[in-house]
Amino acid sequence: MSETSIHTPNPEMPEPLEASRLTGDATAADIESIRTRTSVFVYEWPVRLWHWVNALAITVLIVTGYVIGKPLPSMQIAEATHQFVFGYIRFAHFAAGMIVTVGFFGRIYWAFVGNSHARQLFYIPVWNKRWWKEVFFELKWYAFLEREPKKYVGHNPLAQTAMFFFMTLGLTFMILTGWALYSEGAGQGSFADGVAGWVLTLFGNSMIVHSVHRLGMWFILVFMIIHIYAAIREDILSRQSMVSTMISGTRTFKDDRPE
Ligand code: HEM
Ligand code: HEM
Repeated sequence: MSETSIHTPNPEMPEPLEASRLTGDATAADIESIRTRTSVFVYEWPVRLWHWVNALAITVLIVTGYVIGKPLPSMQIAEATHQFVFGYIRFAHFAAGMIVTVGFFGRIYWAFVGNSHARQLFYIPVWNKRWWKEVFFELKWYAFLEREPKKYVGHNPLAQTAMFFFMTLGLTFMILTGWALYSEGAGQGSFADGVAGWVLTLFGNSMIVHSVHRLGMWFILVFMIIHIYAAIREDILSRQSMVSTMISGTRTFKDDRPE
C-alpha cells in the first residue's frame, strides 16, 4: 500500500501548508510529506471498508434491536402460524451481529498489519501530557471557543477518545452480551455458549443481560449522532477533508481561511 500516492499542489496557495500546525498523531514522515503537498494518504482500504460495513450493520442492529425489546403489536391479517415477521427481524439482527463480530476481528488484525493510523482506534495515550492538552483544545474548538482549528493526519485526540470508549470498548461489550443472549437460543454446549455463556453467569440472569445490551444500544446511538455531526462539522469548519477521507483514504488540507 503506497503512503505517498497522491500529489495535489494547490495553485491558490503560494506556500505549502505550514506543517508545524499538524499536531498529535502526525509522524515525521507525515509532516515531511505535507511540507511539499496538501494531501496525505491515511486510511488503507480495509479500514475504510470496515468503517462503512460496520456503520451499516450497526444501523440494522439498532433498528432491529429496538423492535426486539419493544415489539410492535402482532398483525391480525393472518393466522400466527403463517407469519414470520418477527423471525425475519431477529434474523436480520443476528446476521448483522455476526457481520459486526467478524468485522471487528478483521479490524483488530489490521491494527497489527496496517499503518500507524490503523492502530489509533485501540489505545489512548493517557500518559502523554501534550495529547491531553490537545483533547481539551478540541473540546473548546467543538464548543466554538477556539478560532483556529488544529490539523491532524489521523483522528484528532477527542475523536480518538470517543472512538476508543464507544466503539472499541462499546462494541466489545455489545458483541459479548449479544453472543451471551444468542447462546440461550443456541443451547447449552453450543459454540455461542462456549465463548459467551459465562457472561450470563457473570450478570446473574438473562433479563439483566437483555437490559445492559439494550442500554449499550443507547450509548452507541449517542456516539453515532455526535460522530456524524462532528464529521460533517469538521469537514466544513476545520479546513481539512473528513467524509471523503473515509471514502478515498486521503486527507486533503485546504488553504487557510482568508482574513
Ligand atoms: C452495536 C451492536 C448491537 C446493538 C446496538 C444491539 C441491540 C440490541 C437490542 C436493543 C436488543 C433488545 C434487547 C432487549 O430490549 O431485550 C438486542 C437483542 C439481542 N441481540 Fe443485539 N445488538 C448489537 C449486537 C449484537 C450482536 C453482535 C449479537 C450477536 C449475535 C446480538 C444478539 C442479540 C440477541 C441474541 C438478542 C436477543 C434476541 C431476542 O431476545 O429475541 N446483538 N440487541
Ligand atoms: C453517514 C455516516 C457516517 C459518516 C459520514 C462517518 C464519517 C467518518 C469519518 C469522516 C471518519 C474519519 C474521521 C477522522 O478522520 O478522524 C470516521 C471514522 C470512524 N467512524 Fe464514522 N461515519 C459515519 C457513520 C459511522 C457509524 C454509524 C459508526 C458506528 C457506530 C462509525 C464509526 C466510526 C469509527 C469506529 C471510526 C474510526 C475508524 C478507524 O479508525 O478504524 N461511523 N467516520
